[in-house]
Amino acid sequence: MSNQNPPQLPAPATAAPDTSQVPAPPRSARTSAAKPERTRMFADGTGPAADPAGSHFERRIRSFQPRRSRVTTGQEEALRRLWPTWGIDVDGQRVLDLDAMFGGRPVVLEIGFGMGEATARMAAEDPDTGILAVDVHTPGQGNLLGLADRLGLDNVRVANGDAIILLREMLAPEALAGLRVYFPDPWPKTRHHKRRLIQPDFLSLAAPRLAPGALLHCATDWEPYAEQMHDVLSAHPAFENTVELPGAAVEGTDGVVRHGYAPRPAFRPRTRFEGQGLDKGHVVHDLLFRKVAEPAAS
Ligand SMILES: C[S@@+](CC[C@H](N)C(=O)[O-])C[C@H]1O[C@@H](n2cnc3c(N)ncnc32)[C@H](O)[C@@H]1O
Repeated sequence: MSNQNPPQLPAPATAAPDTSQVPAPPRSARTSAAKPERTRMFADGTGPAADPAGSHFERRIRSFQPRRSRVTTGQEEALRRLWPTWGIDVDGQRVLDLDAMFGGRPVVLEIGFGMGEATARMAAEDPDTGILAVDVHTPGQGNLLGLADRLGLDNVRVANGDAIILLREMLAPEALAGLRVYFPDPWPKTRHHKRRLIQPDFLSLAAPRLAPGALLHCATDWEPYAEQMHDVLSAHPAFENTVELPGAAVEGTDGVVRHGYAPRPAFRPRTRFEGQGLDKGHVVHDLLFRKVAEPAAS
């Protein structure tokens, strides 16, 4: 990452966010006088915001577990030095000007980049595509910033916060050329299934932010989640499977035969979580769906 031409973050936008999908809490709940001062990661006021959207005021089931993870010296140094230029706090208060941030390149959103190794590699191998990478995990944010800096990348932005708020409040209609969700937390216990990210409401939130023809690419090593992804994506009117039917048929853990899982595309490197799953003997499924131009009438 070169600081020669730092991107200009846009001034707060006045465009009204599309609230037609996942319901936003009443403004009063988010701007209550009781809301504490926003604080930064480091005591000297640098780094990402600790809770950029004040999101714990929202009564909503989350797809992530807040973790207290140690930030290494290298990650801290990267966060302090690079956050002001390449970081984005997901504060839910402005619509991002992706054209200005990424110099007019098509932009894909990657939700849950973990430690960011795969993200950095994809960005290095495809410099003509911008990657807006969002996660709540501070060590990973520092790691990805450091990797991007060492590789001299100018097509990655690191967003700190909940992807739901980013999608709901901060992205304009059809702003995205793609959406990547690689190895999202599988939430294996039945009582936690409601925390899984890939659900009908999530797809209805994401669809209007995707340009027609944009690819939604998911991958998981947790077979029951792959089945859920396949079922909700296939049922959603805004998406169609890019893999021609009948394709290879896969019998799921529930005995249902599903067609149309995709082979891993060459542009997706093996991720850290994928490696851990493969070490345990898990099978990886990729799902490649496309946003349709005109959703079929239901
Ligand atoms: C199981 S890890 C996978 C990381 C990486 N994609 C990989 O394959 O190695 C899932 C990641 O998604 C992040 N995550 C889950 N829900 C999120 C959300 N709503 N917004 C932002 N990040 C989220 C978690 O913090 C975690 O880092």
